[in-house]
Amino acid sequence: MRKGIYPGSFDPVTLGHLDIIHRAADLVDELVIAILHNSSKKGLFTTEERIDLLKRVTEDIPNVKVISFDGLLVDCAIQYGTKTIIRGLRAVTDFEYELQLAQTNKRLRPDIDTIFLTTNVKYSYLSSSVVREVASYGGDISHFVPEKIIDDVYKIVKRGEKK
Ligand code: COA
Repeated sequence: MRKGIYPGSFDPVTLGHLDIIHRAADLVDELVIAILHNSSKKGLFTTEERIDLLKRVTEDIPNVKVISFDGLLVDCAIQYGTKTIIRGLRAVTDFEYELQLAQTNKRLRPDIDTIFLTTNVKYSYLSSSVVREVASYGGDISHFVPEKIIDDVYKIVKRGEKK
């Protein structure tokens, strides 16, 4: 059985992430979406909220599993039985960071490889912080996140502002 792991912060998941998830799920028998739970890098969405949103937007993809992890990505990959990390590349500006990440992971675990999928051009400008920023001003985020989570994204962003 061929498994892959797609890691990230997903604070929150966007249509760009979902595009990568659909395409990655076609390449493997099981795709593990691994949400970084980092207590020192607090995001706006709690880990539980990110898990919930990701589960809802991927409920129609049968071979996807959503988990969270703390610690090294390579350890998480091994724990879930995969040696294939999948990452998306939006633009050349992502490349340097992604190369460093992939090479660090390769140094830590030479048997693990990273595969890059190029982001659909429709979403090459998109990031989670763009979603958070536009939502915080009440702007239209329907081109950024799946329809079924729009209301929750507004609600959570507004809650963050009250803090
Ligand atoms: N569509 C939309 N946005 C995308 C995207 C896509 N296809 N691909 C990346 N992004 C955006 C994200 O929205 C995020 O935006 P933001 O900065 O505005 O929030 C940004 O790109 C980067 O996010 P992400 O892909 O989630 O990466 P990350 O840098 O937050 O996390 C990990 C990367 C989790 C893989 C990495 O930190 C990790 O492995 N950590 C574990 C510790 C470890 O093993 N370290 C050793 C290696 S150094």
